[in-house]
Amino acid sequence: MAKVSGSGLKRRVRVEIDLGALVRNYAKIVEHVKPMRVLCVLKANAYGLGVGPYAEALAKAGCRDFGVAEPFEALELLSVLRRGKCAADVQILSSILPDEIAPMVKAGVILPVTDLATAKLISDAARMAKTTARVHFKLDTGMGRLGILAKDALETIRAVKKLPALDCEGIFSHCPMAYDPKDPFTKRQIKLFKSIVAACAKEGISFRKVHMAASDAINNFPATAKSPFTMVRTGINLHGSFDPYGRKALKVEPVLSLKTRVAQVRELPAGTTLGYGRTWCLAAPTKVATISAGYADGLPLALTNRGFVFIGGRRCKIIGRISMDYTTVDVSDVPGVKAGDEVVCFGSCGRDSITPDDWAELKGTHAYDVICSLGSRVQRVVVG
Ligand SMILES: Cc1ncc(COP(=O)(O)O)c(C=O)c1O
Repeated sequence: MAKVSGSGLKRRVRVEIDLGALVRNYAKIVEHVKPMRVLCVLKANAYGLGVGPYAEALAKAGCRDFGVAEPFEALELLSVLRRGKCAADVQILSSILPDEIAPMVKAGVILPVTDLATAKLISDAARMAKTTARVHFKLDTGMGRLGILAKDALETIRAVKKLPALDCEGIFSHCPMAYDPKDPFTKRQIKLFKSIVAACAKEGISFRKVHMAASDAINNFPATAKSPFTMVRTGINLHGSFDPYGRKALKVEPVLSLKTRVAQVRELPAGTTLGYGRTWCLAAPTKVATISAGYADGLPLALTNRGFVFIGGRRCKIIGRISMDYTTVDVSDVPGVKAGDEVVCFGSCGRDSITPDDWAELKGTHAYDVICSLGSRVQRVVVG
């Protein structure tokens, strides 16, 4: 268990990140989409888990393409890679603002071209820095969020190709519904994107990196991992989680275990009500453990009276409303349980397991939300 530096104290709540499982998941994705390149998406501090260990482990495993959402993430990731002497590409996948361009060009970050005006600014910055900026055209084929509209794509690409100091190495797009393998909208998006790539090829414009698939499409639209595509992007599958809908074609394994400790164990009489709102009333005398984790640590309120944790090798039901720092659970079946004992909030216990995806189902959300909601008090601990 990790110590808080200097004090000798151990954090109560921690998320253990199994880097062995992470690397195995990466290898499975690489194998599944061969011969595509696999870009690992480590935006938002690797979905809140800590970009350093993720980047180091994935770079050691052979990853040469990383994606982030914005400039600070790009710089942080680059410094991790440089420290590890790894020459991998770092790419901003979303947007770039005028005042952010020069430092990004100087740092060698691959930038998205979302319109002609941005491309001109990137070209100017690259000329000023006496360098060549690598860029990817970001096409909006139906995501409705960012990028060059499909109808303007060819004209914009032609114009940008004429600008100096740019290496237009890539073209990409993103899908909003690729978790549904039958979704006609995604099929139309893929067709549209391919038609733009083909029209470019007809004019002699080719790209080294052509990509559309994120985890959803990798699992549900195999066409996005075949020519003309040359790369896929993966985020949530690296952590062993999936979108709640659609196929789970990849056999990835859980990477994360959220653990805490028992704060107190008490025998409470029938009729006792537990916690805020008095949402649970004990029907019989019950042994109740109060565990040291609550919604500030990322336990969804939706686990109230419905979720489970593992204590002493047993599944224990959450009874009473989750509060900010503490949660009450029924430990009647756990012999000898006492304050300080380990609690597995999600993770495995023998052959049984509770995953972020299970929590997501109870909360009516997706695993991204659960993983990104782990609180700042939760210590990120690398194992494996
Ligand atoms: C442009 C882009 N590509 C890839 C990803 C990674 O998605 P996933 O975690 O579903 O693989 C995201 C995440 O939102 C994204 O915005």
